[in-house]
Amino acid sequence: MKSILKYIGMKDINLVDYGFSNPTLYCEPFGGSFNTGFKLIEQGYKGESIYNDIDEKVVNFWECIKENNNKVLDRVVQLNNIVKNQFTDSEREMTLANWYQSLDKYKRAAAEFTYRQYLTMDGLKWSVRDTIIDEIDFYLSQEALKSVEICNKDYKEIIGRYDSKDTFFLIDPPYDIDRVSRYYRGDCRKFKHEELANIVKTLEGNWLLTYNDNERIRELYRGFDIKEIKRQLFGRAYTELYITRE
Ligand SMILES: C[S@@+](CC[C@H](N)C(=O)[O-])C[C@H]1O[C@@H](n2cnc3c(N)ncnc32)[C@H](O)[C@@H]1O
Repeated sequence: MKSILKYIGMKDINLVDYGFSNPTLYCEPFGGSFNTGFKLIEQGYKGESIYNDIDEKVVNFWECIKENNNKVLDRVVQLNNIVKNQFTDSEREMTLANWYQSLDKYKRAAAEFTYRQYLTMDGLKWSVRDTIIDEIDFYLSQEALKSVEICNKDYKEIIGRYDSKDTFFLIDPPYDIDRVSRYYRGDCRKFKHEELANIVKTLEGNWLLTYNDNERIRELYRGFDIKEIKRQLFGRAYTELYITRE
């Protein structure tokens, strides 16, 4: 099962390859699309999960899906019908901005879903195709989220609260590259990579950390197991680092 939220940088990881062995708590402090979490639940993980992201718009999307996926679906279809009949990108962006400001949280969730569908590495690109909506996946996401607690905090608070020897963390922070600030809200360029490294090094629980490949990150995690993973993003090849304790 893939996440219904299209997300730049989304991960699709088989965690058993990285030390995941029946923890009682699974935690993504930088949750985004929660793609790997959904995969884990589909694979039969029955324990509790914590989803966290600092971005309140993404968090509102998941809270609304958990509460009533039909209401989100209904608004997504409505929004899609509006934007596909508009002639210019600026009209579509204005509609999106209005929906983001709606008092109806399900409308805001629909705006987030639509925004993420059209976001590319070069900004928002409205294509002629309709928004892709899979009704069954909306329903399955609601089912999967029943065992997931959704949080909207800074990652430090979440790690501090949930670290234990029975926790497994998938830690997928904003990357140490300037252009990530375009894909995520908040100023990810100010993200303190050293601070995260100091926290990760003291964790009681097990973890997998994913990062872009550069000297600073390799230096910060010297002594840990660092694997190079080749990936494609919008047709461009790049290398990521998957870092574990062993
Ligand atoms: C690389 S993305 C995570 C993608 C996610 N693993 C997936 O598969 O979709 C990084 C995420 O971290 C979030 N973020 C940035 N700073 C944060 C912070 N201080 N605390 C919690 N989340 C943060 C961003 O909003 C973004 O969703």
